[in-house]
Amino acid sequence: MKKNTILVIGGAGYIGSHMVRLLIDKGESPVIFDNLSTGYRSSVPAGVPFVKGDLRNPSDLKKVFSKYKIETVIHFAAFIVVPESVADPLKYYENNVVAFVKLLEAMRVHKVKNIIFSSTAAVYGNAKKVPVREDSPTEPTSPYGHSKLMMEQMVMDAAAAHKDFSYLIFRYFNVAGARGDGQIGEAHHPETHLIPNILKSVKGEIKALTIFGKDYPTKDGTCVRDYIHVQDLAEAHYLGVKAFKKGVRNNVFNLGTQSGYSNLDVIKAAERVTGKKVSFHLGPRRAGDPAKLIASSQKAKTILGWQPKRDLIKIVEDAWDWEKQR
Ligand code: UFG
Repeated sequence: MKKNTILVIGGAGYIGSHMVRLLIDKGESPVIFDNLSTGYRSSVPAGVPFVKGDLRNPSDLKKVFSKYKIETVIHFAAFIVVPESVADPLKYYENNVVAFVKLLEAMRVHKVKNIIFSSTAAVYGNAKKVPVREDSPTEPTSPYGHSKLMMEQMVMDAAAAHKDFSYLIFRYFNVAGARGDGQIGEAHHPETHLIPNILKSVKGEIKALTIFGKDYPTKDGTCVRDYIHVQDLAEAHYLGVKAFKKGVRNNVFNLGTQSGYSNLDVIKAAERVTGKKVSFHLGPRRAGDPAKLIASSQKAKTILGWQPKRDLIKIVEDAWDWEKQR
């Protein structure tokens, strides 16, 4: 009899590799599925079963679901760059949405019970009220956000049709930081996210850091985001895995800290952590960026018992430790 396991799709990527390590710390035996399009084989810990496969390829899915007895899938495999999705929307619908149909079909065939789906604050678009609650209107401002909202709907419809299938949807705010063991951290190519770009400019790897937009309706004219430590995020998923066992199912949660920081606040935090001046210029707005996104994460606290423990300074410290030794 095979033991029930957790399948981490995208487990060689930034968030997925943190998730895998947390599961191991908790005594679980995860399996990783990744096509290595943006993940790294070197991020897979020794001894963890790894299947190199693509969600769009049914035989890859059959291979993994036949070989292992999967009870819960945690899905991290998606393209996530907002401006790229504006420039090349069909790439996002194909990689994110089309692939997801194949995954849900395979889960159905192999009778896999649970999925934790990584969604995003980008589904809210320009939220009218912050902190944003889960019942706020969903009006994405980018194809990336639209792709994730479509995937949310697909999961919900599948769960409505099939009573033995359950989901938890997590809408992430801005994930950053690193585990702090020097082995894994954020390493996108090209890097588009604010915190790694600021730190790369401190290291001299980016010559001209641009802050996109200075005329947003925020305290200093730059965008405001809610930054959540990748370890806090992984801990929420572990609580999700446990929640399924207690009968929690078919629910949507924001994962953020309920604190907003402007892009200039993040620069100040980086100057404090690194002890160096960050040079930058204020450029035009970037397509698809909402002005202000701050989570209400009360629901995750109440139902999952989740409480983020790490603040912006800790996020930047851990990201800086990783950047320095890469
Ligand atoms: N920014 C800059 N300069 C840079 C990089 C980013 O000014 O070099 C700005 C952006 O314009 C934005 C802010 O920093 O105002 C944050 O941008 P990121 O690219 O770091 O993150 P996003 O908010 O665009 O997106 C991230 C994830 C998405 C998720 C979203 C939710 O990539 O998957 O957070 O808020 F949906």
